[in-house]
Amino acid sequence: MVHQVRAVVAPGQGAPVQVETINVPDPGPGEALVKVQTCGVCHTDLHYREGGINDEFPFLLGHEAAGVIESVGADVEDLAPGDFVILNWRAVCGACRACKRGEPQYCFDTFNASQPMTREDGTPLTPALGIGAFAEKTLVHAGQCTKVDPAASPAAVGLLGCGVMAGLGAAINTAGVTRGQSVAVIGCGGVGAAAIAGAALAGASTVIAVDLDPRKLEWATGLGATHTIDGRDADVVEAIRALTGGNGADVVIDAVGRPETFKQAFYGRDLAGTAVLVGVPTPEMVLELPLIDVFSRGGATRSSWYGDCLPSRDFPMLVDLYRQGRLDLDAFVSETIGIDDVEAAFDKMQRGDVLRSVVVL
Ligand SMILES: NC(=O)c1ccc[n+]([C@@H]2O[C@H](COP(=O)([O-])OP(=O)(O)OC[C@H]3O[C@@H](n4cnc5c(N)ncnc54)[C@H](O)[C@@H]3O)[C@@H](O)[C@H]2O)c1
Ligand SMILES: [Zn+2]
Ligand SMILES: [Zn+2]
Repeated sequence: MVHQVRAVVAPGQGAPVQVETINVPDPGPGEALVKVQTCGVCHTDLHYREGGINDEFPFLLGHEAAGVIESVGADVEDLAPGDFVILNWRAVCGACRACKRGEPQYCFDTFNASQPMTREDGTPLTPALGIGAFAEKTLVHAGQCTKVDPAASPAAVGLLGCGVMAGLGAAINTAGVTRGQSVAVIGCGGVGAAAIAGAALAGASTVIAVDLDPRKLEWATGLGATHTIDGRDADVVEAIRALTGGNGADVVIDAVGRPETFKQAFYGRDLAGTAVLVGVPTPEMVLELPLIDVFSRGGATRSSWYGDCLPSRDFPMLVDLYRQGRLDLDAFVSETIGIDDVEAAFDKMQRGDVLRSVVVL
């Protein structure tokens, strides 16, 4: 049976998104059909619409979602209709060279649904990050569904499906922040604010938020930042050094993803410190650095894909911390909106009005 549902499609580069009826097939082997309850609007959806990720239009947008399993393929044993799940874009294969050497968080061959979802005329859609959840129902690989405590608020915990996990994990998993460290985060949107919360959760004693928008700095303070830097009127590197005894932070996380912000992260960290890139650059961006500085400053520069998370390990644990009141995921939900409001939500994101707009389906 084909399910006809309303969904948000990006038809072409830079063109506004539109709500259309799409066709979603019943799940085949290894697949699950999910009734989507909530889906956050991530900056990566906007990158897709702008053609900044690839040119495989039309895209079915949305990828930060929670929902309920409607049905599963005949061979799927660990999911059942009615299960409450967060969707993930890291269904690990277990067989690639990263998985085999015991580092499945770097899996090079993650699973997605094999059947396409299509426009009404049969044109295949490319689901954002293999999910496509600005839709009343979506088809994913069963491994993309992580069961969590059904008592949790879908709008809040669904954000673990991408941006909030990316930020928390950039601090906790990629940088390995630990008690007493100093951490600076450049760019405090949904991802950067989550990196602030992650650094605080891991016990960092100095947590510096950097943004160009005072509202973001205020929200970051609510999530655990101990100091803030308004990048509009400060030399960010000097300001980070001034707050860290003149040395620079142990860890600086770039949650913007531009050459100038990555340079701030590179020079804002202490000698032998770590700079983490979690913001997504676009293909034309080029970084120029004196090689002698790369050598002589020591330490590490690391990229963080999805916060180096393992959904099956990290989502249930973070939902537990949320349910215990130790991780304020509700603070990331700035507003709930309808499926027709995604284009307006992109505008709000670009104006800095929100951490996350969350579509409720
Ligand atoms: N690596 C991953 O797995 C992953 C996952 C999700 C999102 N992302 C990426 O992370 C980035 C942030 O996503 P988001 O949803 O938080 O976006 P957002 O638009 O909500 O936030 C970006 C923030 O950066 C601030 N900013 C912009 N330029 C700045 C500058 N020069 N200095 C300081 N602050 C600046 C903005 O004011 C805003 O608060 C995007 O590039 C997104 O694609 C990466
Ligand atoms: Zn693998
Ligand atoms: Zn995302």
